[in-house]
Amino acid sequence: MSASAGPRVDHLGLAVRSLDEATAQWERALGVKASEAEVVASQQVRVRFLPAGESHLELLEPTAPTSTIARFLDKRGEGLHHIAFHVPDLPAKLAELRSNGFRLIDEVPRRGARGRLVAFAHPAGLAGVLSEFVSEGPGGRP
Ligand code: CO
Repeated sequence: MSASAGPRVDHLGLAVRSLDEATAQWERALGVKASEAEVVASQQVRVRFLPAGESHLELLEPTAPTSTIARFLDKRGEGLHHIAFHVPDLPAKLAELRSNGFRLIDEVPRRGARGRLVAFAHPAGLAGVLSEFVSEGPGGRP
């Protein structure tokens, strides 16, 4: 493996009960403006992003009781849900993770918020932290 700075943290995902309330709190705390709310149907969430330097906060509110975010809130309450890393080539990264013995939740990339391609790796092999890998989707924005 070559010496490099490693992947940039794309965003930190926070599970929230009320997107409006959490948005107002974090806008005040960071002095920034959140993106417009976006529904990600495949994940049963409504999300907004706030800029934080090179990275973002992603606020995730469940849109259905079957959403993984709803189950997370039931079990653990509001808080940090996942860390997302930006990678240039998501399929290649997934193949690398797989060959290094990591458990993937998504074997193939799926469409996430902001037109990105995303895939989650299981927290079990990552010190208990659910980790997302993100790349630009077709027509996606950097
Ligand atoms: Co995310």
